[in-house]
Amino acid sequence: MIKLILILVAEISLLTSIASAGDFARTMNKKLIDLQKHETLTHLRLYWHDSIGGQKPSSVMIQQPISNSSSLFGSISVMDDALTTDVMKNSTVVGQAQGIYAGAAQGEIGFLMVMNFAFTTGKYNGSTITILGGNAMLEKAREMPVVGGSGMFRFARGYVEARTKFYDPKSGVAIVEYNCYVLHY
Ligand SMILES: *[C@@H]1O[C@H](CO)[C@@H](O)[C@H](O)[C@H]1NC(C)=O
Ligand SMILES: *[C@@H]1O[C@H](CO)[C@@H](O)[C@H](O)[C@H]1NC(C)=O
Ligand SMILES: *[C@@H]1O[C@H](CO)[C@@H](O)[C@H](O)[C@H]1NC(C)=O
Repeated sequence: MIKLILILVAEISLLTSIASAGDFARTMNKKLIDLQKHETLTHLRLYWHDSIGGQKPSSVMIQQPISNSSSLFGSISVMDDALTTDVMKNSTVVGQAQGIYAGAAQGEIGFLMVMNFAFTTGKYNGSTITILGGNAMLEKAREMPVVGGSGMFRFARGYVEARTKFYDPKSGVAIVEYNCYVLHY
């Protein structure tokens, strides 16, 4: 009898230890956030100012392209670009586009963009959206996914449309309009 109790106790403690090994994850009640009720669709129109030259470049190439690539294949650049409300460089800055773009296409100029739009003013101050996608720079309109966000943009998903408004290869200045369509909570 005592032996049987001991076995039972041993089995129960084994079961508890298996259960507690799974304690790092649990299914939550979705109603706690009430996702449906608070879902919002936001459109943001921003202008992305990239400058690889001049006295104060906003992006720097940290890896050169392979030697004979005219498409910049193999290059990697890091950016911290101003995001403004209008195409003029002196228009209101509302955030920074921080991340990298890498030459990821051999047959055309096509970048893989990995960037956070980090907002610095108004109700979005401190919030971010994250964009990850392909950017064939010479195309008129490029679509890239919004894969996530933080702060006001928690659970974000959506897409952006990028259109180049100004490009000067000599000075290395590019201004790109980003229309962002973001579902978030
Ligand atoms: C670069 O040049 C090498 C040698 O001529 C050639 O084998 C290679 O295919 C070239 N690469 C590209 C991307 O043109
Ligand atoms: C911004 O720059 C443009 C042209 O460079 C100028 O006409 C305009 O007055 C400037 N706006 C502000 C608010 O400084
Ligand atoms: C944005 O938030 C930061 C950190 O909380 C704060 O220091 C800054 O003053 C805010 N900027 C604006 C324009 O509200």
